[in-house]
Amino acid sequence: MPSVRSVRRRAGEEPITMLTAYDAPTARVVDDAGVDLILVGDSLGNAKLGYETTLPVTVDEVASATGAVVRATDDAVVVADMPFLSYGADESDGVEACGRMLKEEGADAVKLESGPHTVDLTDRLTDLGIPVMAHLGLTPQHVNQLGGFHRQGTDRDAAERILELARDHEDAGAFGLVLEHVPANLAEAVTDALEIPTIGIGAGPETDGQVLVVDDVIGLSERSPPFAEQFGDVRSEMERAVGDYVEAVESGDFPADEHSHVEEDVHDLY
Ligand code: KIV
Repeated sequence: MPSVRSVRRRAGEEPITMLTAYDAPTARVVDDAGVDLILVGDSLGNAKLGYETTLPVTVDEVASATGAVVRATDDAVVVADMPFLSYGADESDGVEACGRMLKEEGADAVKLESGPHTVDLTDRLTDLGIPVMAHLGLTPQHVNQLGGFHRQGTDRDAAERILELARDHEDAGAFGLVLEHVPANLAEAVTDALEIPTIGIGAGPETDGQVLVVDDVIGLSERSPPFAEQFGDVRSEMERAVGDYVEAVESGDFPADEHSHVEEDVHDLY
């Protein structure tokens, strides 16, 4: 059974792999490839639902995607990413929304975009048996406050705040920490300061693991952040296949005999 304990134990050992997935077929591919953690990211909003930001994503949408991913996953630890305002405002609402991901959808853990407002909640969720992955640096749910999806922790004060919050979340019981779009030397300092594993995205090579959005990796995203790497070109292959289908229908080549059947009994119907 996948467990967050196995992830915790690996801090400082071989690199941890994490990718997003939002549906069963993708989760199956990601799991079969041996990825350690699957994040049902609220990046679902940009990657799949056509939003410009993650802010409109709902708990129901993440729950539905989490259930699909869990049903297709045998080995990876599945982490449900809690959407904007589903936590942090009212503790019992936050506990209920996070608990739903484990209780109803079968997730192994939740991820919270973290800040001072999530330290006590991380403690409470951990006490209740809900493993929490923290997330610092660029937290896209703060896009309106940050004025864009910019690199974070770029001056000494900001870097110290991130380091302090990382320690606070480790003390509160987080089992891992995502560090997004921060300088590599800050990510290295945070990684050295913590016992729990750090998973970087746009945070350089010195974190304990790496995470990317799967659509960026396979080449399906319309736009990708500068720190992502495309390892395939699924969009071109989809365009080719869909174009060939349209051509085949328009030319009458599809459906062919092997796609149809004829019933003798139906011959004299009119
Ligand atoms: O929603 C997401 O996909 C994320 C990752 C980019 C870490 O939070």
